[in-house]
Amino acid sequence: MKVEINGRKLHYEIFGQTGTPVVLIHGFGLDHSIWKEMVLKYLQNHRVILPDVCGHGKSDAPVGVYSMTELAEDIYQLLRFLRIDHIVLCGHSMGGYISLAFAEKYPNHLSGLGLITTHARRDTDEKAAARYELADAVQSKGSIVLAESMTPLLTENEAVQAYVYDLIKKTPPEGIIGAAKGMAERPDRLSLLNNFDLPALVVAGKADQITPLEKAQEMADALPRSELLILSNAGHMPMLESAAELGRGINQLIERAGNKA
Ligand code: MLT
Repeated sequence: MKVEINGRKLHYEIFGQTGTPVVLIHGFGLDHSIWKEMVLKYLQNHRVILPDVCGHGKSDAPVGVYSMTELAEDIYQLLRFLRIDHIVLCGHSMGGYISLAFAEKYPNHLSGLGLITTHARRDTDEKAAARYELADAVQSKGSIVLAESMTPLLTENEAVQAYVYDLIKKTPPEGIIGAAKGMAERPDRLSLLNNFDLPALVVAGKADQITPLEKAQEMADALPRSELLILSNAGHMPMLESAAELGRGINQLIERAGNKA
């Protein structure tokens, strides 16, 4: 399904018609399909909404910088379109950055927050510079540049590697460039968490080569009502590497969030 937001089309899928509305946001270079298997097996009692972030999957990919705040605004507009007031929002990696921007702007529409292999810090200057270099390389050589460099860091599981490599390769260069520049420009949002007084779940993969465990601990320490779930059989892609455990964690978050959603 697609909805038009600010003149561009956002693609999303919905699994389940009743139960708590839960929105799951995928990470950089990927799309909504990374969640599907986990949702079908472990979240079948809820109404789960899986958007393709602007520039990813089947959503339109305009040229420009995609700020995390604008990407969060897309989620808010999608909720308005679907007439949903409260959600449990879970974001994976870049999806976590978008979720934090959503929590900053629309805390009254949340009943729970899940932060999955992500963190709340801004980019270091070196990291931001590397994103601009990546954007230039993708501009001249295509999305394969990101597929080659990021896939080995996402997971050690070869089947998952093959899957995500294809997804990244298919992501339009405009989407990768827009999101990379948007991530480089995002502010630090760690202090936001001190005042976030709703149930939260922080998930870390023990073998994550992109987001170190300390960053998850830092968020869990800052959040007044968080649970920290450390997955021993996962890297950066727990929804594909450790789906049952992540599904259980999200179900517990939904329970803690109650039926306000
Ligand atoms: C992601 O998986 O979304 C990205 O690796 C996040 C990032 O580059 O900071």
